[in-house]
Amino acid sequence: MALPRGISRHVVRFVRVGTEVYAIKEVIEHLAMHEYRLLRDLNRLDTPSVEPVGVVTSRFDADGDPLDPALITKHLQFSLPYRSLFSRGVRQDTVNRLVDAMVVLLARVHLIGFLWGDVSLSNTLFRRDAGAFAAYLVDAETGELHDTLTNGQREHDLTIARTNLYGEFCDLEAGGLLDEALDPLILVETIENRYRELWAELTGVEEFDGSEMHRIESRVRRLNALGFDVAELDITTDFAGSTIRIQPKVVDAGHHSRRLIRLTGLDTEENQARRLLNDLDSFRARTDQQNADESIVAHQWLTEQFEPVLAAVPRELGSKLEPAELFHEVLEHRWFLSEQAGHEVPLREAAESYVTTVLHRLPDEALALGGVDTMGPLANPYDPSQGFEDDDDSKPYDPWEDGAQAPDADEPDAREYLDIAALRGKVKGG
Ligand SMILES: Nc1ncnc2c1ncn2[C@@H]1O[C@H](COP(=O)(O)OP(=O)(O)OP(=O)(O)O)[C@@H](O)[C@H]1O
Ligand SMILES: [Mg+2]
Repeated sequence: MALPRGISRHVVRFVRVGTEVYAIKEVIEHLAMHEYRLLRDLNRLDTPSVEPVGVVTSRFDADGDPLDPALITKHLQFSLPYRSLFSRGVRQDTVNRLVDAMVVLLARVHLIGFLWGDVSLSNTLFRRDAGAFAAYLVDAETGELHDTLTNGQREHDLTIARTNLYGEFCDLEAGGLLDEALDPLILVETIENRYRELWAELTGVEEFDGSEMHRIESRVRRLNALGFDVAELDITTDFAGSTIRIQPKVVDAGHHSRRLIRLTGLDTEENQARRLLNDLDSFRARTDQQNADESIVAHQWLTEQFEPVLAAVPRELGSKLEPAELFHEVLEHRWFLSEQAGHEVPLREAAESYVTTVLHRLPDEALALGGVDTMGPLANPYDPSQGFEDDDDSKPYDPWEDGAQAPDADEPDAREYLDIAALRGKVKGG
């Protein structure tokens, strides 16, 4: 079995039970138990990973011979395997966002003291997140949970990441699946550098003069912009009070998604939350409710903005996109239409136009078993370990990439997600 086809040492099958889909991995008992517990811990600590359901032991085949236990996890809805996402014809920008998602995931697991041990693309699942991606950990078999990780342990994970990812990128390249403009070595170096930058921002010590107290606020704002909350900030002053030293002690991911769920009950990815909150803020301004209670405005926004957009989608197109992603797409679409029309197009009109001109062309992603077009169908839709049907040589058509010719640079919220240097500049300036 070729590596890019998601090499797995174990048999993994997807099983549909009623409306739920589960992933079932056959694996020896102590590993099944170990992975089950770790996935439980990761879920408890709010770290993006697949959700464990249970371990089935004492299994026998039809002849009464013993079988390995099965670890059951919930199939991660709307998740996309990396092979479809790094394929030819995918914009560099998309690859950058995938790389960032991977970096954020690695930093997040390290923040909670989780040593992954097997960082790789095939052990990661990606979900769309308002133009970016959110990465989820899918394979915790080799993981260890500690109170905190030492630098040596993090370096260990980075070394493994480098080796595995380099191999995976080279394999994509050999299979003609990696855009020619992309170089495996540079990709791997980018991941490592961005990880180091993010880690420094999340945990690094900053020292400044007593006259620059605003730098405490700036640090917190930068972390918020990266999607993290500072739960505890260590601040020390020297004897004379002239030098201040700050270091974030506890940072929690999900700054925007926590706020959104508190206000609206919507449970979304971080960038989706950021997008929806921006829309909520502009709704508040438009309806002149700056001084009204935030939760009341949020409820209005939910019933007058968010829900009508979802209602515009015919039932049979419902499995194309997650609700928050759909709303984000409609906002993008409205921006595009408004630019063309030279005036603000109403949301409902944009939603209807989006459904008729874009949505019906998109692949179903609720259960990307067959995958998006770039990936080609799985050889066996319920058995990912069998890999994909063979590709032909033609350039795959990806309606997502195709629909993305909108002038990105002019987008109101265009940003380099992990461009920490730019972020520093912006926070200073603003
Ligand atoms: N809950 C899930 N939701 C979606 N896809 C899943 C899920 N669990 C497993 N998969 C798919 O199955 C593949 C293999 O799963 P996993 O990595 O856990 O097993 P494995 O590769 O056999 O383990 P190892 O890496 O130790 O060899 C994953 O890459 C992923 O594509
Ligand atoms: Mg694996």
